[in-house]
Amino acid sequence: DWTMAEFRRAKIEDIRAQVGDARVICGLSGGVDSAVAAVLIHEAIGDQLTCVFVDHGLMRMGEAEQVVGLFRNHYNIPLVHVDAEELFMDGLAGLTDPEAKRKFIGKTFIDVFDAEAKKIGGADFLAQGTLYPDVIESVSFTGGPSVTIKSHHNVGGLPERMNMALVEPLRELFKDEVRELGRELGLPPAFVGRHPFPGPGLAIRIPGEVTKDRCDILRKADAIYLEEIRNAGLYDAIWQAFAVLLPVKTVGVMGDSRTYDSVCALRAVTSTDGMTADVYPFDGQFLGRVATRIVNEVRGINRVVYDYTSKPPGTIEWE
Ligand code: XMP
Repeated sequence: DWTMAEFRRAKIEDIRAQVGDARVICGLSGGVDSAVAAVLIHEAIGDQLTCVFVDHGLMRMGEAEQVVGLFRNHYNIPLVHVDAEELFMDGLAGLTDPEAKRKFIGKTFIDVFDAEAKKIGGADFLAQGTLYPDVIESVSFTGGPSVTIKSHHNVGGLPERMNMALVEPLRELFKDEVRELGRELGLPPAFVGRHPFPGPGLAIRIPGEVTKDRCDILRKADAIYLEEIRNAGLYDAIWQAFAVLLPVKTVGVMGDSRTYDSVCALRAVTSTDGMTADVYPFDGQFLGRVATRIVNEVRGINRVVYDYTSKPPGTIEWE
């Protein structure tokens, strides 16, 4: 695409002019935005860029491995992979309030990132995959003039704390444009097309207390759901689809015995920017197939329900 090729060339010039021969550090979240920003910046300044991937253990199935593989093997971009799962799980123990979980995760993410930045000798610039909607939402996130429905930690936090100048090459772009730029940069289509994923990850898809066990259960259910969506050819027609693991147990029957296990809720919405969303109208057969597979294949779940709430009044995530 001519426009994105042009944008790519112009941004590379901008980045070089801004950074000179200084060092840049970039936090990878596992998502598309930070990956596209990192690949673009690497194209501009090569090994003056170091990427740090803080792995909080709250990613979807196989995602951490994918990010590390992509950067180290495919692009050969210097990457520090910090396995901080234990630290995050320990800190999440006992936390049930959605905002308390978000705050802990946001703060701990910054602490870990900061410590790693120091270990590699610091840097002069901090790169972020901030998009145009992030810039807007950080002012008023989904809730009208002065109401904060959910605190967001994409924007703010890191820069103030680290006192570094920012490199934010995606600031003028919307999500679909970032995907286009990602394809232009040669990122694998399946990676670029991935549904948006919140910074706090699975923690906000496990209402109540988050434990490693519950993350593992949710990861399995979510992977089955996404696999069925892909097989049905529906993945790209959906803005976000994911499973939620509820802190509710119900009675079921499996063979000759009674079960007493958790409920899993499935969510799928269409949207253009995440600000409003419509429910994706799966047919009953599809949902039945997913429910059967999850209950049969995932220990710890014995009931599956579908969330039929649009946004507003619901939000996309359950917390
Ligand atoms: P809601 O649930 O408010 O979500 O309708 C709108 C979009 O934002 C994502 N989201 C988050 N992203 N940190 C993030 O980086 C967060 O704390 C957070 N909360 C929600 C959500 O996945 C959807 O795309």
